[in-house]
Amino acid sequence: MDKHTGDAPVAASGSQAPRLKRVGSVIALVAALGIGIAVFGGRSDEAASQLMIEVYKDPACGCCSKWVDHLREQGFVVRATDTTDLAAFKVSHAVPRSLQSCHTALVDGYVIEGHVPAADVRRLLEERPAIAGLAVPGMPIGSPGMEVEGMQAQPYDVMAFERDGGARVFARHGS
Ligand code: CU
Ligand code: CU
Repeated sequence: MDKHTGDAPVAASGSQAPRLKRVGSVIALVAALGIGIAVFGGRSDEAASQLMIEVYKDPACGCCSKWVDHLREQGFVVRATDTTDLAAFKVSHAVPRSLQSCHTALVDGYVIEGHVPAADVRRLLEERPAIAGLAVPGMPIGSPGMEVEGMQAQPYDVMAFERDGGARVFARHGS
């Protein structure tokens, strides 16, 4: 029954072999994709950093683009969208007025407001606290994307905020 137990297994399967090989590689490809999707959907350290983050920013804002560069350098997949109606966007995503900054981003169900370091976004995605999102209010000098040559970095806090407007410190930087 087994074709491969004969004297000349290669000759016996002859023209079938390349086709089987192709089918084999298609199966391998599908399997690889399946594993890829499984990893992508996971919550491991690496998977979190590969998540798509959508950034909404004003087209005229240079520091927003620098923050996008920072995220990409840290391994995030970024989709940046220019909009001139950020105020309404922030309101609709429950960003408290007192915590507002320039750009607003969405990642895996969370809102990211302002120049939040990529490492804090990654920690958020690992810990998954029951909050609406993170914010660095204003635009502190020295936060990612706000590095200004010749100017000293300011200490700043990353705030965790809730949909009802409540907020607490999530991380402190430079203090
Ligand atoms: Cu900014
Ligand atoms: Cu910005």
